[in-house]
Amino acid sequence: MERKIVFATNNRHKLQELRRIAGDSWKILSLEDIGCNDDIPETADTLEGNAVIKARWVKEKYGYDCFADDTGLMVDALGGAPGVYSARYAGDGHDSQANMSLLLKNMEGVANRAARFRTVIALVQGNEVHLFEGVVEGSITTSPAGCGGFGYDPVFKPAESDVTFAEMDADAKNAISHRGRATARLMDYLLKK
Ligand code: IMP
Repeated sequence: MERKIVFATNNRHKLQELRRIAGDSWKILSLEDIGCNDDIPETADTLEGNAVIKARWVKEKYGYDCFADDTGLMVDALGGAPGVYSARYAGDGHDSQANMSLLLKNMEGVANRAARFRTVIALVQGNEVHLFEGVVEGSITTSPAGCGGFGYDPVFKPAESDVTFAEMDADAKNAISHRGRATARLMDYLLKK
């Protein structure tokens, strides 16, 4: 029997990726599919907190079991910034270009360029909450390279690669990315249920 679950996103790329992995076992609904246009507040100061807020919001207001993700880029030399504030590092405009420019400016002349992307997925099923994590270690380049992907991809080089995320094709990125790893853990759990 097909079971339904909401992914608290309208990001088509993320939805496609999840639907491909879920196959026929789970029907993955988007926020749009359930008629949710809410601007869900992301007011927590941790990735876990924000992911749980989003998933609970859907469960409480719309009644569906739901999962939600939150991602941050943590740079060691910046004390873990931009971290949970990655989307609005350069201001509330959520402007990727501005965020990247500010990051490169703050990293000018810095020798320690170690960084990691971390994704947390919160799954709310009935009264239960489960968390799934994915991390990819890497470094911040000194200038942008590549035009694939989104966000900070042109300035993040994973440790297991010679090129930035923005220079990889989507499958190569998903295979090692923070979100790819967290998603694999979530689907592993859901497919065993
Ligand atoms: P979100 O939680 O997926 O919305 O991600 C928060 C912010 O982190 C985004 O606005 C992006 O700037 C950045 N981000 C998330 N995932 C990636 C990625 O895979 N590559 C580059 N930047 C990302």
